[in-house]
Formats: sequence, C-alpha cells, structure tokens
Amino acid sequence: MIAGRERVRIGVVGLGRLGKRHAENLAYRVPGAALVAACSPLEDERAWARNTLPEPRLYHDYADLLADRDVDAVWLVTPSSLHAQQIVDALRAGKHVFCEKPLSLDLAECERVLAEAERYPHLRATIGFMRRFDPSYRDAFDKIADGRIGRPFLVRSQTADQNDTEGFFVRFAGTSGGIFLDCTVHDIDVARWLLGRPRATRVFAAGAIALHDGLREFGDVDNGVAICEFEGGKLAMFYASRTQAHGNDTHSEVIGTAGALAIGHNPRLNRVEIYDAGGVRNECTASFFDRFEDAFLFEARAFVADVQDGVARAGDGATLADALEATRIASAMRVSLETGEAVVLG
Ligand code: NAI
Repeated sequence: MIAGRERVRIGVVGLGRLGKRHAENLAYRVPGAALVAACSPLEDERAWARNTLPEPRLYHDYADLLADRDVDAVWLVTPSSLHAQQIVDALRAGKHVFCEKPLSLDLAECERVLAEAERYPHLRATIGFMRRFDPSYRDAFDKIADGRIGRPFLVRSQTADQNDTEGFFVRFAGTSGGIFLDCTVHDIDVARWLLGRPRATRVFAAGAIALHDGLREFGDVDNGVAICEFEGGKLAMFYASRTQAHGNDTHSEVIGTAGALAIGHNPRLNRVEIYDAGGVRNECTASFFDRFEDAFLFEARAFVADVQDGVARAGDGATLADALEATRIASAMRVSLETGEAVVLG
C-alpha cells in the first residue's frame, strides 16, 4: 500500500507503438507518477527509453523488473497473448497492475486472472479500456446516469481505422486475436458500460476482406460486423474496419426510451471547416492515438490518483470482470465469424 500522497513508482513493460506513448505520459504528464523502470526485450526500444525518459532503470527481462522492490505498479503494454500471465506474475510480486486491452484472448485465462486477483484485494488491477476516460464518452455516461435519455436499450458503435498500406496490422494479426478481440472489444466495453453492464446472451458476426488478403492465413478479416443481444432486452450493433480512406472514425450512439446520444459521429481533427470546390468538410483524426490522446492521459492520471488514495480495484476504469466479459463476447464473435452461426452464450 502506498501511504498518503507519495509518488507511485511505475515500471512500464513493452515499448512498442503504444508503450512509448504511455511511457511519455507517465514520465512527464501524470502528477504523482514516477516512471522509475522500463522493460523491453529489444535493444533499440531500450535505447529509445535511455534517450527519451528521465533515467529509468532498464530491464530486458520482465522477471527482473518484478524483482525491483522500488517499483509499486507495472504498466503492461505488451502483446495481448502475454497479458494474463504477466498480470498474475505482477500481483504475485505485490505490484498494482495497469494492463492494456484485451485482458486475454482466451476465456479460461481471463478466469485464471480473476481467481488470482481475488487473493490480492489490496492491489489495484485494471484493463485499459480508455474510452471510459474520453471526455465525450464520459459526458454521455453521465447524461445517461442523469436519466436524460430515459432507459438506454440499444448501442451502435464502431472502431474504424484508416487503411494501413504498410501492413502493420497484418503482421500484428498473429497475436492480436483478430478484428473482434482487437478492435470491437472496445465497443463491447463501451456498450456494456453505457447499458448498465448487462450480460450477453447471443451474438452473430460476419466479415469481409476488402483489401488485405494477408489476413486470410490468420482467419481474420479487415471489415467485420456483429450483433449482440443482452439480457433484459438490450441490444448492440458493431462495425470494425481496417480500411477507411478518411482516417480513424471511431464513434458510438446510444438510444434510450426518451432520447439518444451520438458520440463523435464527425471524426474531426479540429474545429476548422474547409469550404472549397470539393464542398464543406473537416480533416479527420488519422489514428486511434490522435482521437484518444486525452483519454490515454486521463486514464493514467486516474489510476495513479486512485492508487495514491487507496481506492480499491479499478475506480472508474474497467474491472477485470468487465474485461473478462468483453473477451467472452468478442471470442464468441470470432467463433460466429468462423462458423457462420449465431453463438448462444450461457
Ligand atoms: P507492439 O508490437 O508495437 O509493442 C509490443 C511491445 O511489447 C514491444 O515493445 C515488444 O518489444 C514488447 N514485448 C514483447 N514481448 C515482451 C516480453 N516478453 N516482455 C516485455 N516486453 C515484451 O504492440 P502495440 O501496438 O504497442 O500493442 C501493445 C498492446 O496494446 C496490445 O495488447 C494492444 O491490444 C494494446 N493496444 C491498445 C490500444 C488501445 O486503443 N487501448 C491501441 C493499440 C494497442
């Protein structure tokens, strides 16, 4: 337990595409955090840390970082297939844990993490569903809680990335779990969060390869749709894409008995409208990070403040149980995509 308002000493693990962003936030933009350690198996990533971060202790082996007694919390930004075991190892070493989504690609692994976490109720463990910290998503959540749209019963939500001609996500497909576990898992979490955390009862998913044939060997698609039924007559419709021409277009809509809220329907980069011979338009956010930069920062600030204040479990963030449910639903979508059948969830 961290006493009072002492700084939380953090070790970041994984310094890839997203890990570098988290590391810079924790080092320079999160009051109360001290980024004291960083871990990557790759020398060029450790060299980046040496040059960019304020003198963290550098490890190439995760076990050595866990043995560092002057680390209070670990920040896992590693491949999704490693998350479950790394969370368990962190808790056993007495560290608080922030872990990027998804909790695991495998439901049994999720259950193992939850069972293990029960043994450490004083340690905080949360999964990085950062949309919960995006100001617009948060405002929608608060308006629903205030009863502004009556009883919410339907969410439509999409995660759509700009087309990537470099093929990063095709190489990433081997460890990402596929489009539903990698992308739609965010929309699933948003839907459950906005609808009052219902349990799913049935899903149906379908997909297409519009541009990236390399995904076929992973059983993955570059465009996917899914419908999810929840208990209590609640519903969600999802779309995920890797092939958008205009940018990262992530948005959601929640419909209630007395109104609806749309969140981020225009993926504008800023408030400038361009009027020219092509019409009237905005430039778009290019990547998930352009769209959710603040959300990543605010989730880090919330985690650190909660650890300082001794707030148990996940605070405003997603709990391990929320993350397990998201994996359960996304995994069923993957099965539905493979079999062409609806999947009933017990
Ligand atoms: P990446 O492949 O760029 O980075 C992975 C990092 O893990 C690399 O630094 C690699 O060296 C390191 N690594 C690999 N094995 C390791 C080990 N045994 N111990 C320590 N480090 C190890 O992947 P990316 O895009 O940064 O994604 C990482 C995680 O973040 C994934 O789980 C992904 O789902 C999640 N993510 C979440 C996003 C969000 O919107 N919240 C967006 C992008 C990624």
